[in-house]
Amino acid sequence: MPLAPKLRFYNGCEIPVLGLGTWKSKVGEVGQAVRYAIDIGYRHIDCALAYGNESEVGEAIRDKISQGVVKRENLFITSKLFNNSHKFESVEKAIRKSLGNLGLEYLDLYLVHWPVAHEDGDELFPKNPDGSIKLADIDYLETWRGMEEVHAKGLTRNLGISNFNSEQISRLLANCKIKPVVNQVECHPYLTQQKLSKFCNEKEIIITAYCPLGSPDRPAAKPEDPKLLDDKNLQKISQKYKKTPAQVVLRYQIDRGHVVIPKSVTKSRLLENFDVFDFKLSPEDISYINSLDVNVRLCTLADRKASPYYPFNIEF
Ligand SMILES: NC(=O)c1ccc[n+]([C@@H]2O[C@H](COP(=O)([O-])OP(=O)(O)OC[C@H]3O[C@@H](n4cnc5c(N)ncnc54)[C@H](OP(=O)(O)O)[C@@H]3O)[C@@H](O)[C@H]2O)c1
Repeated sequence: MPLAPKLRFYNGCEIPVLGLGTWKSKVGEVGQAVRYAIDIGYRHIDCALAYGNESEVGEAIRDKISQGVVKRENLFITSKLFNNSHKFESVEKAIRKSLGNLGLEYLDLYLVHWPVAHEDGDELFPKNPDGSIKLADIDYLETWRGMEEVHAKGLTRNLGISNFNSEQISRLLANCKIKPVVNQVECHPYLTQQKLSKFCNEKEIIITAYCPLGSPDRPAAKPEDPKLLDDKNLQKISQKYKKTPAQVVLRYQIDRGHVVIPKSVTKSRLLENFDVFDFKLSPEDISYINSLDVNVRLCTLADRKASPYYPFNIEF
């Protein structure tokens, strides 16, 4: 299988357009998935401290490096700073924890996972007595200064954000030394993010699309929720290209200039999801898929709406 093409950031570094998602990939399964993925040709892996599986991901990566299948410099490894480490002085400890878990000396990309801060400390999800999450009023501009510091120390090659809205991005750009290279956000045919995509493109920030397949295994999924990959319109398009609906929705992101990070722990699907570099959607089919947008968000973080930095209160 050919390797994924790359996109170039404003700073000259490059990112493979397709990577492996690892949220919800269980310990005991994720290592094998990463091994299969690297054997297939995946060179980009999307991790996060909050996914609770970085150690097993790292073990698999290091195995493949020591077997000579891949070199560290040919991999693109992302991790994310979680909401409980938003104080300036907490960022270095958090990135060092992810690096320790992964057994790596540097990341290729470190993202602020959410603009929303929890109470600072070791607990990922600190709780109030009533069970709600303890939020903190820590400005993401303070967090970003911590991100710039770990970048200066060489712990990550690039810095990015995730789940930031356009106003938060503008405020960050007006107050940073290093611009983010990526905004990783939910994006699929039911939430096409056309306005945010255009906005980020104008700012030279690349969109990475998460939940590109509609995240059927998300914890909040209800049996009655529509399943993206069963959509009749997408099935019709996929027949035209002799591809599967999953391949069409992945190509939909790539053909819009986005990076895409489908998750799977199933070998046949890892292969299917990587087999998208031999076709291209027509501009008409991209417009048609754009028209399927119903503004449905799967990852709402609704229980953190009280945060002053909650990102989904404005249109985009
Ligand atoms: N920054 C953020 O806040 C954020 C939020 C959400 C996600 N993410 C990142 O984005 C990644 C992708 O999002 P996601 O995991 O929520 O959802 P997703 O990639 O849209 O969907 C994953 C689900 O689809 C199934 N699947 C994979 N390939 C398939 C195929 N070809 N045909 C049918 N089903 C298929 C997987 O099953 P199996 O695994 O059982 O094969 C799994 O149940 C995450 O893993 C994570 O790395 C980031």
